[in-house]
Amino acid sequence: MVTLTDRAAMHAWSREQRKRGKRIGFIPTMGALHAGHLHLVKQSLAQTDCTVVSIFVNPSQFGPKEDFDRYPRVLEADREMLAQAGCHALFHPDVTAVYPEGFQTTVAVEPLGSDLCGRERPGHFQGVATVVSVLLNLVQPDRAFFGLKDYQQFVIIRRLVHDLSMDVEIIGVPTVRETDGLAMSSRNRYLTDEDRRRAVAIHGAMVAAKTAFEAGEKGAARLEAIARRILIDAGIHRIQYLAVRSADTLMPVKVITAQSVVLTAVKVGTTRLIDNVLLT
Ligand code: PAJ
Repeated sequence: MVTLTDRAAMHAWSREQRKRGKRIGFIPTMGALHAGHLHLVKQSLAQTDCTVVSIFVNPSQFGPKEDFDRYPRVLEADREMLAQAGCHALFHPDVTAVYPEGFQTTVAVEPLGSDLCGRERPGHFQGVATVVSVLLNLVQPDRAFFGLKDYQQFVIIRRLVHDLSMDVEIIGVPTVRETDGLAMSSRNRYLTDEDRRRAVAIHGAMVAAKTAFEAGEKGAARLEAIARRILIDAGIHRIQYLAVRSADTLMPVKVITAQSVVLTAVKVGTTRLIDNVLLT
């Protein structure tokens, strides 16, 4: 596995792969890799000829009171995991390689980016959309893989790639979970033992909504109430949002007639966690 750090080297590597007729798969990450990230890598290895993973803790997607400084940075362990998994290239740029001096462009997907997580985290999705645009242009992949765990992020990226006519296929990959159902996340390591036990209810709430839906409940408000009850009974009171939305556009729905998604963001202790489930 090669490690690339600057723009020119990244471009040159991709150009070389394409010249050899290889299809490039790309997984952007912020590192602190876990089985969820590795599952994206496996999908890319299976569907393309060579796989690039980027590790870049993007400052512009963190708010001033968020965890940018304490976000886990474990490059050597990450590099080892990626090499073991069979990844071909690691792109690990520094801030100036992503945002060269004088950088002043932003990509905003609105109003989608100000809804749901965007309400609690103003500017977050603008940071994500901007960095992903830069990274896609640097790597020039045929396919890029995103986790459905960050469902709103996935919808935003799909939207921006379509709107800006970028020549890349965006693939959504199902959420990888711990054995008790908690969605894997680099932030789970912030949880105390008690928070960790409590956090299981997040997936429990999503499953309860899905079960009620499958049993015939089609009213969004009633499904939301069922899921909310599970969280509160588990002692999770700080529910930033819990909503049933269209899976395609994330617009609100009252009665479910097309594919929908239940999404939630909660605070457990000091840690903000998100999860969702598709209602098909
Ligand atoms: P990060 O949180 O490191 O996640 C990188 C990718 O891994 C995202 O597509 C995310 O949805 C996916 N992922 C995380 N946990 C997962 C799980 N349990 N199962 C499946 N996929 C999972 O998301 C980001 O980084 C950043 O916002 C980024 C897109 C890199 C832009 O900076």
